[in-house]
This record gives sequence, structure tokens and C-alpha cells, in this order.
Amino acid sequence: MAKVTVQFTCSECGTTSGRWLGKCPGCGVFGSLVEELHGSPTESVAAVALKPIPIGSVRLEDADRISTGVAELDRVLGGGLVPGSLVLVGGEPGVGKSTLLLTALGAIARTGRRALLVTGEESASQVSLRAARLGGAESVDILAETELDAVCATLEAERPDVCVIDSVQTLHASALSSAPGSVAQVREAAGRLLRVAKAACVATVLVGHVTKDGAVAGPRVLEHLVDCVLQFEGDRYHEHRILRATKNRFGSTNELGVFEMTAAGLVGVPDPSELFGTTRAGEIGAAVGCVLEGTRPILLEVQALVAPSDLAMPRRQATGFDRNRLSMLLAVLGRHAGIALGSSDVFVNVAGGVRVDEPAADLAVALAIVSSHRGRPPAQRLACFGEIGLTGRLRPVGHAAPRLAEAAKLGVTEVVAPEGTAAAAFLTVRRADTLDAAIGLALP
Ligand SMILES: Nc1ncnc2c1ncn2[C@@H]1O[C@H](COP(=O)(O)OP(=O)(O)OP(=O)(O)O)[C@@H](O)[C@H]1O
Ligand SMILES: [Mg+2]
Repeated sequence: MAKVTVQFTCSECGTTSGRWLGKCPGCGVFGSLVEELHGSPTESVAAVALKPIPIGSVRLEDADRISTGVAELDRVLGGGLVPGSLVLVGGEPGVGKSTLLLTALGAIARTGRRALLVTGEESASQVSLRAARLGGAESVDILAETELDAVCATLEAERPDVCVIDSVQTLHASALSSAPGSVAQVREAAGRLLRVAKAACVATVLVGHVTKDGAVAGPRVLEHLVDCVLQFEGDRYHEHRILRATKNRFGSTNELGVFEMTAAGLVGVPDPSELFGTTRAGEIGAAVGCVLEGTRPILLEVQALVAPSDLAMPRRQATGFDRNRLSMLLAVLGRHAGIALGSSDVFVNVAGGVRVDEPAADLAVALAIVSSHRGRPPAQRLACFGEIGLTGRLRPVGHAAPRLAEAAKLGVTEVVAPEGTAAAAFLTVRRADTLDAAIGLALP
């Protein structure tokens, strides 16, 4: 039997110590020592040479994905859960992580696969209450357990196809003295579960809490260990929730899933443009942008408010849009379009709690700002896309055709786009070479 010892290791320089110290003796950093388990095998492992095999001869059926039955979740995962993979789902309290995963487990169990829910946060009866509300999750197996060894042993013995651990912060390795949810415990739990998931071929989903600034709580190392990191975002006070992958070893990280929270659980929104991309006719300070989230084009309403400021440093606030990018856009507007906003507060908001990172949204943000500044609404049924360069030129963006198709689907009749964008059926494409020209086209 291997002897297990507890050691404290500095997370900065790796110095180890037999007891906890406030200051690392190696590098002098305070509070960097974390508890770790070290196994010291008594018998050495015989070094046997193994035979590597060509990748081409690896059996491919092992990589068949398991559909979760939730189309939006499948999309974000890149087509379903990969057997034996480890997925981390993070999100604010109450955003609907447990609801989403219970729905998925129910659908997986209905296809004849074995689905197991390990719950540490809620009792079995609380989960069954939720299952009754959601419906269709009767054949999901449930285990209310927080002891890590017991969970791992159960997974090895039962070998379910999919297992959800809700949440990784409640798991507790008894060999470690620190409290559940501490860095050492979470790291140990994730490491052990990773080995079990790969060995027993159990697709494991870990639910993780997020810290105040939105990162998954626990060590960053958790994000390196797992195959996928999904973030479940959304305002708790809005019914829309957005699921996105921040890391995915088996698919794109740009995909986006949109859900609506209802009494019957989370319902996928297959057509988010309808929800987020419609402005009211004649509304001042609102523009519609065609942005691409992964492979999916969506129309988003961008709102802006320009108001006189009493401050020496006027406020620039953005929700759902990068603040630095907003500052840059304001500078370009001032320099190349003659719109000086140096003494105005500028607020920008992307509707529906969506966050856009794509530069193609620049034009919509600029148009919303100019519309608010001039007190005139953009032309009706108009959408736009294009990246704004520092020189004031409108730069072309990729995938123009799907953006135009999405706009046409929602009844947009006119799109302002960079020079070189191909024409499309059902709508007029107005091309502009500079930001100034684009403003002229959109704000008559
Ligand atoms: N009967 C209901 N009708 C509509 N929505 C409900 C109902 N019951 C719960 N909800 C919604 O479900 C949300 C809680 O979902 P869930 O428990 O899955 O969240 P969670 O992310 O797992 O939270 P935690 O981190 O606390 O475990 C609540 O915020 C609420 O909006
Ligand atoms: Mg929960």
C-alpha cells in the first residue's frame, strides 16, 4: 500500500514544506503555500517499454459523441459529449447549471445510456423535486455523496456513460485536512476524477462556482486539466441565459447557446436574432449589428446614450462590449468623422446581456453613438457590420454571406457593410469605404 503524505507546495516557485507557512521560504511570497497529497510508492514500478501505435490505427468508434438531447448544449460542446472527457461548467449562483444538466441527463437516460448525478449541494429529495418539475428525468441515477473516494469508487464500479458532479467544490478528500472547496481539495478532486473519467470512459461534467470576477473558483489549474470549460452567463433577473465555451479540446470555442428560463426548465432559443436584434422604428441611439458567434450569425441591438458630462473625465461605460474598444471608437469618431464627444458621457449596452468580442460589431456601436449624439434614429429596417480601423477606414470582415442571410431572414431591408461585400437576395447592401461614409448612409 502506497504511503500518502501531505505536503505544502508554493504555487509560485514550487518549494515544498512539511507544514504550512505564511511566507514561502523559497521565494518570499506570502500565502502561496497550498496543501497537496503526495503518494510515495513503496515498490518501484518496473520500467517496461511500451509499444506506441500509429494514430491512424486508433479505433474511431471510441470517439462517437453522446448527444445531450439539448441542441444548444450540443452546439457549444461541438456536437455532443465526447466519451471519457471532462467538462467544467461554471456559472453564477442560480443561473441554472443544475437545471440544464439535469435536463441533459434526463435526455441521455431516455436514449438508453446510463446517466448518473452526484449531488453534493442538494439532497436527493430536492433533486427529485426539480426532476418532477422538469419532467423526463425519472431514469437518471442519483447519488448524494461528497466523499471523493466513494464517488470515484462508484464511478469505477458503475461505469455510467455520463456523470454530472454538482458541484466539484463540495467534494472532499478525507486525506486532506483543508475544507471542501479549497484550492487543494478542488485540485485533488479534479485530478482524481480526470483519471477515473479516462480509465472508466465516463463523460464527466463538473459544476463549478464562479468567483466575484467571473472566473471559475478554485485554481486555474482546473481549467488546464479539463477538456472543455463552459461558462453559463446571464442576468439572473432576465430570463435569457447564454452558454459559451471558453475552452474546448473537441470543438470551436466561439459557439454560443441561448436559453430561456421557464417553469419547465431551460428552453433553447434556436433563433436568438429575433430576441436580441429587433429595434423599435424611430428609436434614437439604437443600431442593429450582424455579428458572428462561432458559426452562427446573430443580429444584436446595440444601444448608446450620449449625455453631457459634469466630470473632468467623462464616463465611458460599456456593457457587453469591450471598454477599451469603446474608447478607441470614440477617438476614431472624433478624429475621422468630426464627432467630438470629449465632454460627454457615453454609455453603450448590448441588448439581452450578450457580450460581443467581434470587431464586426464596431460599426453598430459607432452608429448607435452617433444616432444618440445627433438625436436622430438610424434608417428603418437597417442593420450593419464592419470593423473600424484606426485610420477611419471600414475594414471588411469575414463570412458576410451568412450575416446578410440572417439579416434578410429577420426582415432587414438595408445593410451597411464594408466595400467589397457581395450583394445578397432580399435586401440592399450599401457599401461604404470609410466610417464617415457609413454614417452618411445609415443616418440620413
Ligand atoms: N418554478 C420555477 N419556475 C421558473 N423558474 C424557476 C423555477 N424554479 C427555479 N427556477 C429558476 O431556476 C434557477 C435556479 O436554477 P438552478 O438551481 O439550476 O441554478 P444553479 O446554477 O444550479 O444554482 P446553484 O449555483 O445555486 O446550484 C432560479 O434562479 C430560478 O430562476
Ligand atoms: Mg445547482
